[in-house]
Amino acid sequence: MYERILETAKWLQTKMPTHPETAIILGTGLGELSKEIEKEVIIPYEEIPNFPVSTVEGHAGCLIFGKLGGKDILAMEGRFHYYEGYSMKEVTFPIRVMHEIGIKTLFVSNAAGGTNPQFGIGDLMIITDQINFMPENPLRGANIPQGPRFPDMGHAYDPELIALADEIAAEKNILVRHGVYLATQGPTYETPAEYRMFAKWGGDAVGMSTVPEVIVARHCGIRCFGMSIITDLGGMAEVVKITHEDVQKAAKEAQPRMTEIMREMIARS
Ligand code: HPA
Repeated sequence: MYERILETAKWLQTKMPTHPETAIILGTGLGELSKEIEKEVIIPYEEIPNFPVSTVEGHAGCLIFGKLGGKDILAMEGRFHYYEGYSMKEVTFPIRVMHEIGIKTLFVSNAAGGTNPQFGIGDLMIITDQINFMPENPLRGANIPQGPRFPDMGHAYDPELIALADEIAAEKNILVRHGVYLATQGPTYETPAEYRMFAKWGGDAVGMSTVPEVIVARHCGIRCFGMSIITDLGGMAEVVKITHEDVQKAAKEAQPRMTEIMREMIARS
């Protein structure tokens, strides 16, 4: 496994026009940010040795090397989800490669269902901590020597980056919530009983991504910042039907606010 990570990193190093220390996973809500990247090199995942192969038709995505706000960055357009059938090792393989090529800070976004009764649809939530309710930990198995066997998870999300996000949101007059992101394996949305249970456990939002990537990033010593768009609400008094289309619609509406905060954070961090 480690050999394959090193091999991929070595291959990428021959293609990299710059040496970015910042990476962004362009999850839900950050699609527009991609348009603002001055792209220098775009590499489809299919061309990258050892990268997971797409489980669905069409291409899974690409790595983009370029500049955002004058800063060298690496962006992942398209991510691998556990519910698509990828193993945890596949889902997190790109993060391990990022570490080898010198990435120090990772920005992630996602769409999530709000379980905190104070939240509304379209709210932005700065992720302050996470709960891994996926069936597996991506570090299971022989320890990959990029970090310790038993990594500390005390600051899964970097407190300084959270403070910076609060500062930027206040300057721009954008309302942001704080909360704990809980990840399930999906692909079902939650039953009302599950939403209520997750709220009791301390989750403020529930989704199907991010947690494996952040576990592996922390294993490698990469600092993380994440934001969720609250696209639907669960566990409240009445049962509300959720569709993927509703989630996409709410995410689209919130996208400009998320993009504004992330763009500024990347420029200043
Ligand atoms: N649950 C899980 N994942 C999600 C949700 C949800 O309610 N909304 C968007 N992604």
